[in-house]
Amino acid sequence: MGDTETDPCVAVARDILRANDRGGYTVPTDRLYPFQWNWDSCFVAMGWATFDERRAWRELGLLLESQWDDGMVPSVIFHAPSDDYFPGPAVYAVPRTPPTSGTCNPPVLTTAVRRLHDTAGDPAAAADQLAAWFPKLVVNHRWWRRARDPHGIGLVATLHPWETGMDNSPAWDAALARVPTDTETVIRRRDTSHVDPAMRPHAEDYQRFIHLVDRYRGVGWDAARTYAVAPFRVADVGTNAILLRAEHDLLALAERYGSEADRAEIAGRIAALQAGVSRLWDAERGIFTSYDLIADAPIPASTCAGFLPLFAHAASPEQVASLAETIREWSRRAPWPVASAEPGGASFEQRRYWRGPVWAVVNWMIAEGLIGQGEAELGAMVRARTRRMIADAGFSEYFDPLTGAGLGGERFSWTAAIYLLV
Ligand code: GLC
Repeated sequence: MGDTETDPCVAVARDILRANDRGGYTVPTDRLYPFQWNWDSCFVAMGWATFDERRAWRELGLLLESQWDDGMVPSVIFHAPSDDYFPGPAVYAVPRTPPTSGTCNPPVLTTAVRRLHDTAGDPAAAADQLAAWFPKLVVNHRWWRRARDPHGIGLVATLHPWETGMDNSPAWDAALARVPTDTETVIRRRDTSHVDPAMRPHAEDYQRFIHLVDRYRGVGWDAARTYAVAPFRVADVGTNAILLRAEHDLLALAERYGSEADRAEIAGRIAALQAGVSRLWDAERGIFTSYDLIADAPIPASTCAGFLPLFAHAASPEQVASLAETIREWSRRAPWPVASAEPGGASFEQRRYWRGPVWAVVNWMIAEGLIGQGEAELGAMVRARTRRMIADAGFSEYFDPLTGAGLGGERFSWTAAIYLLV
């Protein structure tokens, strides 16, 4: 962690969080993303916790207040109207107040809650909070198992690329190509008026993204029907690894806040997910890969998500060594690790969103994982490079892995939060 007294960037990072605070939730950045985003908020809460614990709890509290009755925590909460973003609440048509999206997001929530709890300066307040929240977290984890792994294969499905948080990753190319491009909704993109279109997904990707939203809205966002009609269904290695990590964190919290039966239930899900994630190993590539549940085939793409089983401590010693070697090799090709897609690979684009650029939140999870799985030196290197990249280029949304230049939106909340954590 940076030296709070002497490092001027720490003050800037805190200022960004304060400036993006909309009264209890933090927008990812002004204008481009004017609402509360689920996994952004989880990282941001951990950042807030380094200097304002009460504010950190509030961030996650607002997220949990929008939990659906079936247990899902949605990816976007539309607290206040805004014309700066498409698709807005009318496109999702979820009958809630405040309105939400109908999709989910990588489940970082339980991990963030545990971190706030374990580092709390006021343990009594944290215990009160957990007594109220633990049952909600349990319901959310049950939702993942029931709604997204209905056949009990040990891997949860994501039904929209946005749910993975890595919208236009090359890993989704083939699965997304099967999704039709016709839409009921008239597409009015706002992102390309805020940011250079060369750094954002293509128009055709957007048509497919909206086709999926139209289709799921058509079945009223009912979990079972959405799963059944989904023309895009992948077991994303990132989401599964993050969920496995979250289950371990839930089990740790259950020691104090749960029952014997809760612990047995969580342990059962951990065993199933661990087996599922292990099956995603690709020995030839030296990385984990996602699985296309419709084509029933592994997805042959090496992306940054493939390192995330480290974050769940789910890699065997041989796999850890191999992953570490892959990270070193990628860093030789692109000096600012960790690229979101294999540098020099066929689909690599150094400036386009999730097809090459470096994302600070992913680096934080990879570094945590490396350190936790016995690769402390490499983990420290990833952290140090992340700090340096942000200090040199600014608090951008993502970064060019070849030059370290900042890309996308500026004064980004999760980049600021990660600066406070690495
Ligand atoms: C983009 C990113 C997603 C993030 C959101 C808000 O959609 O792909 O991961 O949550 O922006 O920052």
